[in-house]
Amino acid sequence: MQRKKPIVVVTRKLPDAIETRMMELFDVRLNLDDKAMSAADLAEAVKTADVLVPTVTDHIDGKILAQAGENLRLIANYGAGVDHIDLASSRQRGITVTNTPDVLTEDTADMTMALLLAVPRRISEGARLLHSGDWKGWSPTLLPGRRIWGKQLGIVGMGRIGTALARRARGFGLEIHYHNRRPVHPDVEDELEATYWESLDQMLSRMDIISVNCPRTPATFHLLSRRRLELIQPHAYLVNTSRGEVIDERALGDLIDAGKIAGAGLDVFEHEPAVDPRLLASDNVLLLPHLSSATVEGRHEMGEKVIVNIRAFVDGHKPPDRVLETMF
Ligand code: 8YV
Repeated sequence: MQRKKPIVVVTRKLPDAIETRMMELFDVRLNLDDKAMSAADLAEAVKTADVLVPTVTDHIDGKILAQAGENLRLIANYGAGVDHIDLASSRQRGITVTNTPDVLTEDTADMTMALLLAVPRRISEGARLLHSGDWKGWSPTLLPGRRIWGKQLGIVGMGRIGTALARRARGFGLEIHYHNRRPVHPDVEDELEATYWESLDQMLSRMDIISVNCPRTPATFHLLSRRRLELIQPHAYLVNTSRGEVIDERALGDLIDAGKIAGAGLDVFEHEPAVDPRLLASDNVLLLPHLSSATVEGRHEMGEKVIVNIRAFVDGHKPPDRVLETMF
């Protein structure tokens, strides 16, 4: 007798090829309109699903999980970050959580590098000037940026993405400094000629460019608090492709507004899709709509990982990308 296919509820529109494969393998409920789900929609989804496939836009908190049906055994997140899922409640209810690490590391590091170059070199200001039709021609004093080569880059969080960023940054002549819960393997430190700072405060107060690459966990919420942001030198730049909540966005808005930080490149925000109006209005701030892992290849590979995790789980194996609370 053929086994019943698991009911898989996917909360957002995924790449066509992934949806087609899911239709072959699972009793899948797709979201072809890509309308973000409300809390009521999510509650309905967890009642019916054997497997839920959420994304960063779905807040799977304890209240939602309390409404889950007996059948919900797996949350196969489409994305690496799982800060939108209550891991403790999931564990208590016996629900396994998986994510999609590795496949978005290089793309995210590329985008971080792009912001890191674009802000000091005033790329978006230059592009805006040209598009506005106001460019009067070359001038020695037109939009001088700051040199990248030879500057000190401080990476907050030296995991997969932080390390991939450091490798790129070395090619641009940046000196690598990092803060992490613990130093990385000495071989990696040697390869990158990286300096470990146990004290985040001290690192922040000395760097020319700071990049936030740690996951959002209870311990990293507002890690860059107002007090810490005030330690950053006025000529320094801040880049964030991790999670908005790691930075106190209102404090950053205040400091940018007051000219106490030279500029910022941000792909993530504390209250997405809302953005602090001071940041929106600042010329020295480059803002992107959470695009760091948005490549055709990456989105496809994330979907492949979700499918592999679901299949392994349904077949009674441990899915490869299980997330444990202790990992964060
Ligand atoms: C994803 C991300 O696009 O994977 C992550 O954690 O932040 C993004 O790059 C998004 O989370 C997909 O759910």
